[in-house]
Amino acid sequence: DNKQFVTLVGSLRKGSFNAAVAHTLPELAPANVTITHLGSPGDFPHYNADVQEQGFPAPVLAMAEAIAQADGVIIVTPEYNYSVPGVLKNALDWLSRVSPNPLAAKPVLIQSASPGNIGGARAQYHLRQILVFFDARVMNKPEAMIGQVSDKVQENSLVDEATRTFLSKQLQAFADFSRQAKG
Ligand code: FNR
Repeated sequence: DNKQFVTLVGSLRKGSFNAAVAHTLPELAPANVTITHLGSPGDFPHYNADVQEQGFPAPVLAMAEAIAQADGVIIVTPEYNYSVPGVLKNALDWLSRVSPNPLAAKPVLIQSASPGNIGGARAQYHLRQILVFFDARVMNKPEAMIGQVSDKVQENSLVDEATRTFLSKQLQAFADFSRQAKG
């Protein structure tokens, strides 16, 4: 059956390597899988319970609704200081307050990319811990930690063949995972 996934990118930078990876994913998706992009987490205000009491900001509700409709969420993020960028944590903090929670029982795939060697691994493990609260269904393996990404992206597209092949396989695994996880 068809699956529809959405991507959430943890970088606001115009030339973001992680955004380039996310934007390449639709080309790498298996048959019967469509991948679209969520709005920018940069459109969310800083989380503030006083603001929430006045009503959730429209971008938060729009993203929550898009996630609720999707069969899975692919988070593609840089690592900042061995952890998750603040803008991504802020988005997750907002989303965690929405009821019913759009990420509850939702299949989630994590990818990260860095010009460094470790490819954002440390951010991925912090992100997994955050997603425990949501009771999201985070796929364990295969993991995609893309190191040396500055050599693998050209003109906002992932061009490295080995990485493209690997991500195609990971997306296939995620499609299979989402079919089982939804049960
Ligand atoms: C970084 N960078 C970085 N890289 C890494 O592998 N581990 C890290 O802990 C950090 N820490 C970090 C903190 C801050 C504040 C910045 C701005 C950067 C480098 C980072 O991987 C690089 O800037 C990427 O290009 C950011 O991802 P996008 O924006 O290209 O997607």
